[in-house]
Amino acid sequence: MAQYDVVIIGGGPAGYNAGIRAGQLGLKVAVVEDRVTLGGTCLNVGCMPSKALLHASEMFEVAAKDFAGLGIDVPAPKLNLPVMMSQKQTSVDQLTKGIEFLFKKNKVDWVKGRGKIAGQGKVEVTAQDGAVQTLEAANIVIATGSEPSTLPGVTVDQARIVDSTGALSLPEVPKSLIVIGAGIIGLELGSVWRRLGAKVTVIEFLDRICPGMDAETAKTFQRALTKQGMSFKLASKVTGAAAKKDGVDLTVEPVAGGAAETVSGDYVLVCIGRRPYTEGLGLESVGITPDKRGFIDTDHFKTGAPGVWAIGDATHGPMLAHKAEEEAIAVIEIIAGKAGHVNYDVIPSVTYTFPEVASVGKTEEELKAAGVEYKVGKFPFTANSRAKINHEAEGFVKVLADAKTDRVLGVHMIGPDVGEMIGEYCVAMEFAAASEDVARTCHPHPTRSEALRQAAMGVEGWTMQA
Ligand code: FAD
Ligand code: NAI
Repeated sequence: MAQYDVVIIGGGPAGYNAGIRAGQLGLKVAVVEDRVTLGGTCLNVGCMPSKALLHASEMFEVAAKDFAGLGIDVPAPKLNLPVMMSQKQTSVDQLTKGIEFLFKKNKVDWVKGRGKIAGQGKVEVTAQDGAVQTLEAANIVIATGSEPSTLPGVTVDQARIVDSTGALSLPEVPKSLIVIGAGIIGLELGSVWRRLGAKVTVIEFLDRICPGMDAETAKTFQRALTKQGMSFKLASKVTGAAAKKDGVDLTVEPVAGGAAETVSGDYVLVCIGRRPYTEGLGLESVGITPDKRGFIDTDHFKTGAPGVWAIGDATHGPMLAHKAEEEAIAVIEIIAGKAGHVNYDVIPSVTYTFPEVASVGKTEEELKAAGVEYKVGKFPFTANSRAKINHEAEGFVKVLADAKTDRVLGVHMIGPDVGEMIGEYCVAMEFAAASEDVARTCHPHPTRSEALRQAAMGVEGWTMQA
């Protein structure tokens, strides 16, 4: 029986980063993954392919709509969907191969097959050909990730009714795409297909988009997407779907009650959240019972069973690749006797639409609910010279700081490239910065990043350029 210090089940951002860190620290480690490629949801059917399509579709729209205004006369661009899809797949393949390379470099064994806990310290792996082997592990890390949540009455067939995986590989541009759920997936993938020519309607249960996002930012975001041609049906619930050969009829009712209507589209994307994936994992063999929603409860990544840990989407917290990566590093460092730690107050979130939305820390609503007194500094991109020059001046930066100590508690931005800029405030918050620290830091001119400083100046009321 092969013996390991750590056996990790799942090769996504949680599992592969845990594997690499364990290898770096000299632990004997195996990662069990049953997909044909490493990288999990993120690399195969999540972050990476979606960002590849977001980038390509944005270029397509810019070429069609913005080039002429910049004095670049080119014929109207024509979409070559097979090429757009194959460049996406090429990047994905390179990235998943990259993880294999990193495994070899750090002496991480990839045990191919489906992992199942078979009692304390044992992981049984069933390969695709049915061969079974058992690994002995001083520590088992569950990193099995998540899968799309399902909606009763709306069965995903990956033909006309798709989930995010299907929506990353549609065979044609829909004439009309109905998106169920105005969260990150719906707005990112809805943007992709709208840019390529689909009429996109988003149906959302709540009376706002992106629950959890700072409300003022979400409102501005919805306005921007509406201006681009996306339509929203808020406070509405889908109660049934009838798939036909060339489309789908959805039955939609107001949440508050009232008459049902039929909304038809040639494709439907169901994206109402994701749920942890822990099926058939043998949890009962070590006495672990997931909570009602399927999440594995942990205390500093420790489950209730000795030597069994859980990280990433399979456990609580934001379902984000970088959160999974943080937990991967921390759990392995704890196993190796170091002081692994994750600061859950500084986990950023980015929506990669146009404009992008980025945030870190508390929203205004959260601060109000907690009774924290705070000050706000806000700066619009219309007053930022670089944004103006590029004719991309939509959006703002908003900094929330403690009214007494001036410590930065939350930052919310909407605008082009804000996903790249939020990292600056993550570092600032890790160092417990005051807004004045950012306000008095020299930023390069002309860049959008100057808006970060101007917003920070606004906390004490001395924004200079607006
Ligand atoms: P996963 O990535 O789901 O990996 C789990 C792995 O475990 C899978 O490969 C699975 O095959 C394997 N596995 C499961 N059970 C077993 C078993 N019993 N035996 C062997 N292997 C098993 N997050 C971001 O931060 N930024 C983004 O831009 C972003 N975009 C996204 C876009 C889409 C369309 C989707 C769906 C998600 C996106 N996410 C994004 C979320 C991100 O993909 C997840 O948060 C992240 O992948 C979680 O990592 P994980 O390792 O916990 O799980
Ligand atoms: P989500 O939680 O972001 O949004 C789901 C939306 O569906 C919510 O607005 C919710 O109110 C709504 N909803 C729920 N039930 C509904 C119903 N019956 N009818 C209509 N609307 C309903 O989930 P989503 O978009 O599926 O994404 C899953 C997760 O994947 C995200 O929460 C995020 O963690 C991750 N992700 C991250 C990305 C990023 O970081 N850029 C990109 C894509 C996904």
